[in-house]
Amino acid sequence: MSATGSHEKPIVVVGAGVFGLSTALELCQRGYKNVTVLDRMLPPVPDGSSVDISRIVRYDYTDPFYMKLAREAVQSWRSGPFHPYYYNTGFVLTSEEKNDVYLEKLKSLLRSQGQAFKDFQTTEELIREFPHLKDVKQEFTGYINPNAGWADAAGAITALAARCSELGVSFITGPRGTVTSLRTDDSGVTGVNVASGPPLLSSNVILATGAWSNRYVDLTHAVSSSAQPVGFIQLTPEEAADISQMPVVINMTSGFFVFPPTPHTNVLKVARHSHGFDTSIEVNGRTISAPKRDVNNAASSYLPDDADEALREGLRQVLPKVADKPWVRRRLCWYTDTPQGNFVVDNHPSIKGLFIAIGGAGHGFKFLPVLGKYITDCFENKASAEMRERWKLEKGNQTTGPMVCNDGSRRGPARRLLTAQEQAKL
Ligand SMILES: *[C@@H]1O[C@H](CO)[C@@H](O)[C@H](O)[C@H]1NC(C)=O
Ligand SMILES: *[C@@H]1O[C@H](CO)[C@@H](O)[C@H](O)[C@H]1NC(C)=O
Ligand SMILES: *[C@@H]1O[C@H](CO)[C@@H](O)[C@H](O)[C@H]1NC(C)=O
Repeated sequence: MSATGSHEKPIVVVGAGVFGLSTALELCQRGYKNVTVLDRMLPPVPDGSSVDISRIVRYDYTDPFYMKLAREAVQSWRSGPFHPYYYNTGFVLTSEEKNDVYLEKLKSLLRSQGQAFKDFQTTEELIREFPHLKDVKQEFTGYINPNAGWADAAGAITALAARCSELGVSFITGPRGTVTSLRTDDSGVTGVNVASGPPLLSSNVILATGAWSNRYVDLTHAVSSSAQPVGFIQLTPEEAADISQMPVVINMTSGFFVFPPTPHTNVLKVARHSHGFDTSIEVNGRTISAPKRDVNNAASSYLPDDADEALREGLRQVLPKVADKPWVRRRLCWYTDTPQGNFVVDNHPSIKGLFIAIGGAGHGFKFLPVLGKYITDCFENKASAEMRERWKLEKGNQTTGPMVCNDGSRRGPARRLLTAQEQAKL
């Protein structure tokens, strides 16, 4: 990249989730003067995966690469500019199996990195640490990571977008910000077509479009979108106070997880980290799994019955007192899955000027405070060889059916294609 003029070049970032916004902010901080973020809706985009009340923040990884990155992120959540959005409640991982292989791997890596955690063999031992889990009747074994918790996703994204705006990022939303396709010619990318008005021209486009990505460029060999169930329950102030000091809990047998109620609003959120659901839609003659483009996918509040029941079952095991309270809202959260859970942050191999930053695979949000720095390092070709290798976009465009994420963290039922009837309800 030439030193002169390179910071003046217009850069169009498509997607205002954690990948797009953290990158836009970092680009501005590095002196880029013409950064525009496009999205269908204002951040926090209501049907994106960087929204709503909470995300787990933890560095429990079986892979040292992500553990290191996540430790840096947790450190930043605790003491950096986003600390008001972080709650260090502790994180409990439980499994039905004694000496669960995955948990043992997590613990051995924590141990080798000198990180504190605490084993528990019985529910009684767990309740001694967290008296607010006193109503649990289920048998629990697992471990506690005290240096983990959750982040207010919508709050942190709102603050991130505001910071971008202060530093000069332009935002375009609504039909002008709704990208319909990429514009390319023999020289590479030339801009994007949008749902209303003339195209936005730029020879530098960063696609941070998460679960929508396969609509714009065929990356089906590298990423595939899966929908995961989420439910919200309104607690009374008394019910919330009764469990306010609980940790984040994940059941590594079922994939079910639950957060403490949100302070002040007393909303309880539960979800499942599993293989999720596929849809089947036609885009430019290709069949892909993806959320819709022109509607708010979170509006319908629809969940497949089996997923709804799994969330209820999970709640009955961890918080039996409130397990049958009605949902105030449900939604499918769209993951952008990759085969090993690696992000995809790379130049497109054949379309010059097109840079891809996607592939959160259900674990990206926690990296919000540090992600933009590393994406921009990749964009500027400054990242470590290890990171480039990890996050490279594999070549090729053949697919052999929907790709499944096998990063080891997913539990619960196998991935399932939603029936036509179910898809009609989305
Ligand atoms: C940013 O780039 C756009 C597209 O090339 C151009 O129209 C606009 O004048 C540029 N803005 C600045 C501040 O340079
Ligand atoms: C975890 O999920 C499994 C499978 O649904 C269930 O049998 C077990 O009781 C759950 N454990 C806890 C502690 O909730
Ligand atoms: C990708 O697809 C195009 C057309 O569909 C084909 O011509 C090309 O050979 C494919 N490339 C690879 C690497 O599979």
